[in-house]
Amino acid sequence: MEKYKVAIVGATGLVGQEFIKVLEQRDFPMDSIRLLASDRSAGKKLFVGHQEIEVKETVSESFKGIDIALFSAGAEISRYFSPIAAQSGAVVVDNSSAFRMVPAVPLVVPEVNPEDIKWHKGIIANPNCSTIQMVVALYPLHRVNPIKRIVVDTYQAVSGTGSAAVDELTTQAKQILDGQATVPHVYPHQIAFNVLPEIDVFLDNDYTKEEWKMVEETRKIMHADSIAVSATCVRVPVFTGHSEAVNVEFSRPMPADEARRILAQAPGVKILDDPAVSLYPQPWSAASTDEVFVGRIRQDGSHPNSLAMWVVADNLRKGAALNAVQIAEEMIKREWLHPER
Ligand SMILES: NC(=O)c1ccc[n+]([C@@H]2O[C@H](COP(=O)([O-])OP(=O)(O)OC[C@H]3O[C@@H](n4cnc5c(N)ncnc54)[C@H](OP(=O)(O)O)[C@@H]3O)[C@@H](O)[C@H]2O)c1
Repeated sequence: MEKYKVAIVGATGLVGQEFIKVLEQRDFPMDSIRLLASDRSAGKKLFVGHQEIEVKETVSESFKGIDIALFSAGAEISRYFSPIAAQSGAVVVDNSSAFRMVPAVPLVVPEVNPEDIKWHKGIIANPNCSTIQMVVALYPLHRVNPIKRIVVDTYQAVSGTGSAAVDELTTQAKQILDGQATVPHVYPHQIAFNVLPEIDVFLDNDYTKEEWKMVEETRKIMHADSIAVSATCVRVPVFTGHSEAVNVEFSRPMPADEARRILAQAPGVKILDDPAVSLYPQPWSAASTDEVFVGRIRQDGSHPNSLAMWVVADNLRKGAALNAVQIAEEMIKREWLHPER
């Protein structure tokens, strides 16, 4: 079996660390791995399996000889280095928002639109974490009964903001329990014992950019421009695992039992839905797992064609690193690493 030279840009970050784990756990066919970050981390050593590998500063020459470059170092770094990496012959799978809505760049969730990988020209975008878990749960239903409208409220973990936010929640929680004052740095307000309906910047239409990403990315991934989406994205004091209350209006009635039957067969989905024993998805138990968990599936009593459900996944795995590695695996399996560019 052919093996590939892989680079991780942002290897010291939360998503970068998860990349290393996922590649190892899935036995990704790697010939070598190059760990890249900023000059702050250059020289630091990280374990990949039993091997200690030195982190290098990301520079234009970093991508020579690389087949697959997994980026998770923020949009600015992606915007600068992804075209350079692609020019050097690597295929970039980018976790940032830099290229997601660029028409010439595929935006891929392998359970939904793997065939879009084929038309890449060196860069493939990994969607926003909240969008990924939602479309994995909704696309199988949409194929049977087209979705007209989605109203979603998210409960997003702090790890979605990166390692500084995880530290902030830890510090603030300790300070509050010790009766001390807290000073927010990462978020505009205290996050410990609080919830903030603000993720990313506010736009002119009064939605946040995170909410708007869910609108646009859902349509692009599902090839369904007419789906109406309204999102309210909320940061909650959870370390890992995004939860979503999703209300979906279909073209025709969709009985809850039929939705359960469809989702029971759906790739990447696991149903946890037994109210009698308080069984439903929770971020705590979804952390470090690969599935998108769906529960609380019920008829929306206020609309004949609508269902309500609760969707939870690990934002660092299916919401980021795992989805990107699955894209790379799909690309290898279908021999789409180097379609005509
Ligand atoms: N966390 C999530 O759930 C999630 C989900 C989807 C997408 N993403 C995206 O993934 C990216 C990283 O997220 P994260 O949670 O891993 O953040 P993080 O924990 O803050 O890590 C940031 C990473 O970026 C690196 N970096 C910063 N400046 C750099 C530079 N000038 N050159 C090269 N590397 C640089 C950092 O390296 P140093 O250690 O050297 O500073 C670190 O490895 C973001 O674009 C984010 O939007 C995150």
